[in-house]
Amino acid sequence: MAHERVLVLDLGSQYTQLIARRVREERVYCEVHPCTLPIERIRALDPRAVVLSGGPGSVYIDRAPTVDPGVFELGIPVLGICYGQQLLARAFGGEVVSSAVREFGHAELVRTGDSPLLEGLPAQFRVWMSHGDRVARMPPGFRTMATTADCPLAVMGAPERGLYGLQFHPEVTHTDNGAAIFRNFLRGVAGLRGDWEMATFAEEAVARIREQVGDGRVICGLSGGVDSAVTALLVHRAIGERLRCIFVDNGLLRKGEAERIDRTFRQHYRIPLVTVPAGERFLQALAGLAEPEAKRKAIGRVFVEVFEEEARRFEGAGFLAQGTLYPDVIESVAAFGGPTAVIKSHHNVGGLPEKLGLELVEPLRFLFKDEVREVGRVLGLPEEFVMRQPFPGPGLAVRIPGEVDAERVAVLREADAVVRAEVHDAGLDRVYWQFFAVLLPVRSVGVMGDARTYEQAVAVRLIESTDGMTADWGYPPRDLLRRISSRIINEVRGVNRVVLDISSKPPATIEWE
Ligand code: XMP
Repeated sequence: MAHERVLVLDLGSQYTQLIARRVREERVYCEVHPCTLPIERIRALDPRAVVLSGGPGSVYIDRAPTVDPGVFELGIPVLGICYGQQLLARAFGGEVVSSAVREFGHAELVRTGDSPLLEGLPAQFRVWMSHGDRVARMPPGFRTMATTADCPLAVMGAPERGLYGLQFHPEVTHTDNGAAIFRNFLRGVAGLRGDWEMATFAEEAVARIREQVGDGRVICGLSGGVDSAVTALLVHRAIGERLRCIFVDNGLLRKGEAERIDRTFRQHYRIPLVTVPAGERFLQALAGLAEPEAKRKAIGRVFVEVFEEEARRFEGAGFLAQGTLYPDVIESVAAFGGPTAVIKSHHNVGGLPEKLGLELVEPLRFLFKDEVREVGRVLGLPEEFVMRQPFPGPGLAVRIPGEVDAERVAVLREADAVVRAEVHDAGLDRVYWQFFAVLLPVRSVGVMGDARTYEQAVAVRLIESTDGMTADWGYPPRDLLRRISSRIINEVRGVNRVVLDISSKPPATIEWE
């Protein structure tokens, strides 16, 4: 039986991939495509419903992102979110007003009548708003289903035609009952079964790798994260010794990480692994660089160089296995022609496959992070590894704002080890999505014993999140903070002050650079 398919048309929102995730969580297969996808392609994909994402644009700006109007003639349910709602409203003859003031943050949604989309939900609940423009007049045939204090058309719809528009973002975790809204849309409105299964994914992936690779040889870069680990395990299961893993130790890893990767893969799984100690080269490339994007690019460049040198030693390799996830695929779609703004250049092996003449093997290409973790468990990856907190490719370098040198890396590594140990001992390592230290480029005056000190400051970042797209700093227990602070100041030479980062994402990002 063919998969039921839902299309998300990306109008440039930072949250688009979360929409796809929410749809997948309802066990409905879902693909994200740029909003520019022509109607013939959309028809060929035979979607059962369409979701229009939010976007940073205004329908009034020049060349505002839009979708092929044929979408609205397919006769299938359409859910427009934020900017998507405005497009929907305009398409059917409604009116959108531009607003100079952005409404941003929580709002209280109050239901005003029956709505299949809000079926079974409370009369009032919290939603997350992030918009400038809004729908001022509904198209004919639509009716209001909920309002907020500042937004009289927070939910509108034409149930007979399966058309709905939301001014808020049901896909972010800050909106209560977001999952139920998607469930209502997919099951109730679009009548989908929701029977897409992950269980056989690993076997299917192994079979696909065998088919693609034949009797060829594969190179895979290990980073220490769960994505590359699961990729390596899948490829190893498919082709055994014809896999060679390369781990580039960039000298910017957390304490004990390099050893642990070697132990897990070479010793435990007996996967052929070459570790390349390249810390010096990375530091040289970083010397004198203070601008975040310049640092990220330098690290990416050296990574490609080192990886390339090692890969050439593995003769006869025809393939490069990469732990590309769905969000990366979507991001790069956005980067090449879509409307999403680039916030940070992500560290990846861009350009490598062409340089080396290698074909890509990307078994995780259609999965999200938590789905990858599920596959990791199926493959017997230890839980401690499966649930690792994400760690950025450019490593500690993006946690040292400004210039990076060996000494600063060493200081940060020690401070970070304290944060990790204390959060772990407090039993909170599953509560926080990420917990780490940042070495600040400032010095401040202190007093130790009877002497004046003038030393560095460390910021502690403890954040709660479910996807890394939005995050909150939570309220860390006072005891935990006290222990972290006193241990860092007492044990880490060169640090005399610890501060707590209390910024949520957005508007801050998780990493400082
Ligand atoms: P930001 O700082 O953008 O980070 O809020 C969101 C999530 O992504 C991680 N991150 C990276 N991961 N390569 C990665 O693989 C990178 O270059 C990179 N930069 C940030 C970050 O730790 C957080 O989980």
